[in-house]
Amino acid sequence: MEKVLLRVENVSKSFPIGRKTIFGKEQQKLQAVKNVSFQIKEGETLGIVGESGSGKSTLARCIMRLYDDVEGKIYFEDKNILEASKEELREIRKEIQMIFQDPYSSLNPRMTAGQIVSEPLINLGIRENIKERVMETIKLCGLDEHHYYRYPHEFSGGQRQRLGIARALIVQPKLIVADEPTSALDVSIQAQIINLLEELQEKLGLSYIFISHNLAVVEHISDKVGVMLKGEMVEMGEKEGIYKNPQHDYTKTLLRAIPVEHPSQRKR
Ligand SMILES: Nc1ncnc2c1ncn2[C@@H]1O[C@H](COP(=O)(O)OP(=O)(O)OP(=O)(O)O)[C@@H](O)[C@H]1O
Ligand SMILES: [Mg+2]
Repeated sequence: MEKVLLRVENVSKSFPIGRKTIFGKEQQKLQAVKNVSFQIKEGETLGIVGESGSGKSTLARCIMRLYDDVEGKIYFEDKNILEASKEELREIRKEIQMIFQDPYSSLNPRMTAGQIVSEPLINLGIRENIKERVMETIKLCGLDEHHYYRYPHEFSGGQRQRLGIARALIVQPKLIVADEPTSALDVSIQAQIINLLEELQEKLGLSYIFISHNLAVVEHISDKVGVMLKGEMVEMGEKEGIYKNPQHDYTKTLLRAIPVEHPSQRKR
C-alpha cells in the first residue's frame, strides 16, 4: 500500500463578515470550510469540484497554511501543519507547492523566467547549481533553454502556466495543490497542461489536489473526487463511484450538467 501523504481532519475555516459591533452582538461569521476530512496517498490525485463560493480555494489555502486561525488538523507525513513551528513550516513548504489559475498575475513581470524559477531556491538559501537546476526543470516542463532569459509577457498563456509549474517543481515537492490551473486557458492548451501534469506525476511520483469547475477534466486526471457544497465536502470517493453512481443530489446535478462530447455517448 502507498503511504498516506496528507491527512485532513475536521478542518473548518470562517471569515468575519459585516461591520464589527462595539456593543453586545458578536461579529457575524461566514463559515467557508466546514468540518472537512480526507486523505491523500503518495502518487494519488484528488480532484475537488463544487460551485463557485463552495470553499475550494479556502480549503487549498488552509492546506498551504496561509491562514492562522484554521480549526482541525492537517497532517503532512505525520506532522500537523497547523501546529508546525516556523522551522518546521519551512521544511513543509518545500514539500507542498501551489499552482494557480492565472499564471500571469502570480509571476513577477520584471523578472526573467530564469529568475522566477530560481527564486524559491534562493529563498531557501540554496546557492549551488541554480542555473543547471532551473534549466533542467524548465525543460522538464516543456520549455526551451532560450526561455530562461525571457520575461512573462513574452510567453503564451500555456507557456506561462508551464513556467508556474516549473517554479512549483524547482524545490522538488511531493504534493502540488493546483487551483483551477487550466481554467484560464484555451481548450487545446488545457489538454497540453493536463498531459504535462500527468507526465510529471509519472516521472516524479507527485500527488495532486486538483481543483476545477471542469468535471470532464477532473474525471480524466483524478483517482479520487471530492464534491464541495457550501463549505462541506458532501461526497468523496473513488472517481468511478462518484461518476457512475453519485449518492448526493448535488453531485447528480453537477454530473447532469457535463456536456457530452460525442453524440454517440449521449445516453440520457
Ligand atoms: N478573505 C476572505 N474574507 C472573507 N470571505 C472570504 C475570504 N475568502 C473567501 N471568502 C468567502 O468564502 C467562501 C468560499 O470562497 P472560496 O474562494 O473558497 O470559493 P471557491 O469554491 O474557491 O469558489 P470559485 O470556484 O469561485 O473559485 C465565499 O463565500 C467567499 O466569499
Ligand atoms: Mg476558488
